[in-house]
Amino acid sequence: MFEVRDLSVQVGTKTILKNINFNIEKGVPAVLFGPNGSGKSTLLKAIMGFEGYSVLSGDIIFKGKRINDMHTEERVKMGLGIMYQHPPQIRGVKLSQIAGFLSGDRERVAALSAKLSLENHLDRDINLGFSGGEMKRSELFQILLQDPDLVLLDEPESGVDLENISIMGAALNEFLKRPGKSALMITHTGYILDYVGSQNGCVMIEGSLWCVGNPKEMFESIRKFGYDKCKECSYVQGRDHKAH
Ligand SMILES: Nc1ncnc2c1ncn2[C@@H]1O[C@H](COP(=O)(O)OP(=O)(O)OP(=O)(O)O)[C@@H](O)[C@H]1O
Ligand SMILES: [Mg+2]
Repeated sequence: MFEVRDLSVQVGTKTILKNINFNIEKGVPAVLFGPNGSGKSTLLKAIMGFEGYSVLSGDIIFKGKRINDMHTEERVKMGLGIMYQHPPQIRGVKLSQIAGFLSGDRERVAALSAKLSLENHLDRDINLGFSGGEMKRSELFQILLQDPDLVLLDEPESGVDLENISIMGAALNEFLKRPGKSALMITHTGYILDYVGSQNGCVMIEGSLWCVGNPKEMFESIRKFGYDKCKECSYVQGRDHKAH
């Protein structure tokens, strides 16, 4: 469904991502770990084709098509969507307005806003004055209404309380169970792994992908030994390391 081949990306004058390779299959969400500043959000933004994220080399392939030269809007039309790490606030546009734009199905809007406890936010400007957790729920609400085939989730549970993680996790899980859907998600806390089953994890360190494996096992190992251990023991793309 989605493939990145040998991708290198520059932001400003700096090469942030170096020769990244991975695949995502339908129904098999992928999980991305990695320390702060390692390039995880940059990868998601480069996949979306945001301005300022220059692909130096490599291919981004979605549904069999090379999308490197497509505008973000075209990628969205093809079925890509992103939930931001730092959601933007949009003054003058109500959450209900964007919801109506994203989905013509009023019942669906009402049901999903109720599920994500956002009924009282529909009448407010998008994310303006929302608490951290409310903003994340509002982002999830919008992306689920957009209904992409591949959703890129940048720390969806960050700043969200445990009860709301469970609500968001259930909504995401329901989305991912539908045929033809998949996700690439970044997590630091690992909480989302309790709700979204995945067998496909990797670690980004200094702009390169290192380990590949079962996300829950990888998370436990990172918790115990830190990211340095990933460098020591794991497979690294483009190098001749032996995987344990
Ligand atoms: N527009 C930019 N100009 C200069 N440097 C940038 C720019 N955008 C990102 N960077 C740098 O690229 C590196 C990777 O940033 P990125 O946001 O991808 O990290 P991350 O892995 O998502 O980190 P975190 O876990 O903290 O969210 C950082 O050192 C960041 O400062
Ligand atoms: Mg980030």
